[in-house]
Amino acid sequence: MSDKEPIHLEQRTQDGARKFSPTAARNRAPIAEVLSPLLLKDARVLEIASGTGEHALYMCALRPDIIWQPSDPDADSRASQADWAKDSGGNMRPPLDVDVMQSGWAAKLPPFDVIYCANMIHIAPWAATEGLAAGAQDSLKSGQLLILYGPFKQGDDTAPSNLDFDASLKSRNPAWGVRDLEAVKHIFELHGFNSLQQSVMPKNNLILVFKRV
Ligand SMILES: C[S@@+](CC[C@H](N)C(=O)[O-])C[C@H]1O[C@@H](n2cnc3c(N)ncnc32)[C@H](O)[C@@H]1O
Repeated sequence: MSDKEPIHLEQRTQDGARKFSPTAARNRAPIAEVLSPLLLKDARVLEIASGTGEHALYMCALRPDIIWQPSDPDADSRASQADWAKDSGGNMRPPLDVDVMQSGWAAKLPPFDVIYCANMIHIAPWAATEGLAAGAQDSLKSGQLLILYGPFKQGDDTAPSNLDFDASLKSRNPAWGVRDLEAVKHIFELHGFNSLQQSVMPKNNLILVFKRV
């Protein structure tokens, strides 16, 4: 990753290493409402692109039985995740440096039951979506889940706010952009996943659940 590129487009505050995302503060409860029932007891969850780490801590407080492994290629984000992890009961693990654009990223990791990734594929090149799908294919076994959260383009039904967001992303980096829902589903199908569930979320976001064949 380039050090000069922004990794988020919001105003975050910070206390020591700990970062606060206003977006995560808003969306963590509705995300958790959909996510939690999908996680079996004692599930081991790998989060890709954990950002500040606030989704991770929220899920760990809600579900003390699970093990949540945050990750991010950005060192400042990992420092924030490590600081937030101190507030968990130990089930939020020390963050890992995972960049899904590095081929074979999953091979160096222990097994997980679920992979979760929020708000990454639009603020990274399309190769990150392909890399996420390829690594998830390597990592997950039949029946296990890959869960995505974020905005998507849905043809004529695309929300105007998501079209504006797409233009704003592309003005910062032409390789970024709100991804086409069908193209994302197609990539995961090519990598051995079936589309299992699609949940409509606040502010024109979706949760997509894919099951490893
Ligand atoms: C907008 S933030 C989302 C953070 C968090 N998931 C959330 O929803 O609040 C995007 C994150 O994607 C990470 N990211 C960008 N490219 C990546 C890549 N190739 N592999 C893994 N993470 C990446 C960035 O470092 C950043 O933390």
